[in-house]
Amino acid sequence: MSRFFDLISKPAREMGGLLPTPPKRAPADSQPRLIRLDSNENPYGPSPHAMEAMQSALTAANSYPDDDCTELRRKLAGIHEVQQEQVLVTAGSTALLSLLCQTMLAPGRNAVTSERSFLVYSMAVHASGAQLIETPMRDDGFDLAAILEAINEDTRLVFLANPNNPTGSMIDAAGVDKFIAEVPGHVVVVLDEAYYEFAVHFAARRNVEYSRSLNYVRQGASVIVLRTFSKAHGLAGLRVGYGLGPAELLAYCARMRDTFSVSSVALAAAVAGMDDHKHIDRVVSNNATEAQILGVGLSELGYHVAPTAANFLYCDVGEDASGIAGRLRNEGISVRPLGAWGAPNCIRVSIGRPEQNQIFLNAARKIAENSQQR
Ligand SMILES: Cc1ncc(COP(=O)(O)O)c(C=O)c1O
Repeated sequence: MSRFFDLISKPAREMGGLLPTPPKRAPADSQPRLIRLDSNENPYGPSPHAMEAMQSALTAANSYPDDDCTELRRKLAGIHEVQQEQVLVTAGSTALLSLLCQTMLAPGRNAVTSERSFLVYSMAVHASGAQLIETPMRDDGFDLAAILEAINEDTRLVFLANPNNPTGSMIDAAGVDKFIAEVPGHVVVVLDEAYYEFAVHFAARRNVEYSRSLNYVRQGASVIVLRTFSKAHGLAGLRVGYGLGPAELLAYCARMRDTFSVSSVALAAAVAGMDDHKHIDRVVSNNATEAQILGVGLSELGYHVAPTAANFLYCDVGEDASGIAGRLRNEGISVRPLGAWGAPNCIRVSIGRPEQNQIFLNAARKIAENSQQR
């Protein structure tokens, strides 16, 4: 074996890595303009207010950032009507997932989630030496009854991605209410709302009520709500997200944090960008319009598209999806084939700008026609 294999910890030995994402900049000669619809990023970029704040924060980049993220926490606490101690800002919401696992899990303990959900749950749980129990899905969404059933005395965390990545499914307010009421007291429920702004917009259009997640936080329930600036705010590259939950638990998580892990530039961008409702409204309403166009276009090719509450579509192409993804890549478009999620016939397509989506649909049409002729 290798030089360090016997020296590293058991979890490090047993961990698989996150699937490699294609390099951001393809070599100029091979693919001059790869359209990236594979990482659920915001195709409209950050708010101009955030851009301005970043520029000005750069001039103070010689100073360490405010480790308590005071200004951002104060603003978030005010907007969400919770105490400042009930807000923890981290370098992306995935950093808080890891902190929660390090704080609450250990060998012999477990966390529960659904199959075909966010891959980072598995990585964060296994890194803490604990076990992840994944329950089967129901209609491409979380089966909450199965999750309740899977909880045992060693369970400490449950992850509900709402909406779920990669299936785009949403659990409504009544569903979450019922679940929270039935979860045993020794379990903390993580409501991962990375796509919150998109979900709220879709829910309003569809006349359904999205999760009342902040109510649980205000009532002091054992619930952590995760939100991020990576998606609707278009700041994925800066790494800033946060959790809302019980002050005591977040204080334990904060002890485990790396010092100065949220940069001053990220903090400035988040503070300035969060009030730019015009930008966020434009992002979420364009997303909903384009979701409809893409959904219709893909259905016309005979593919099955699941209803989405997020900024991507889960699409069953009825054949090996890695082949389709490879052919799309040859056409200059990158999408995510979902074999590693146990859905070998499915791709996840992030919703891009209108012109990107048209190029994608044209390429998908050409590929579907070629497959029919073969
Ligand atoms: C369900 C879910 N949670 C969290 C995240 C990560 O967010 P962040 O960029 O804040 O780490 C993602 C990103 O794709 C996601 O799909």
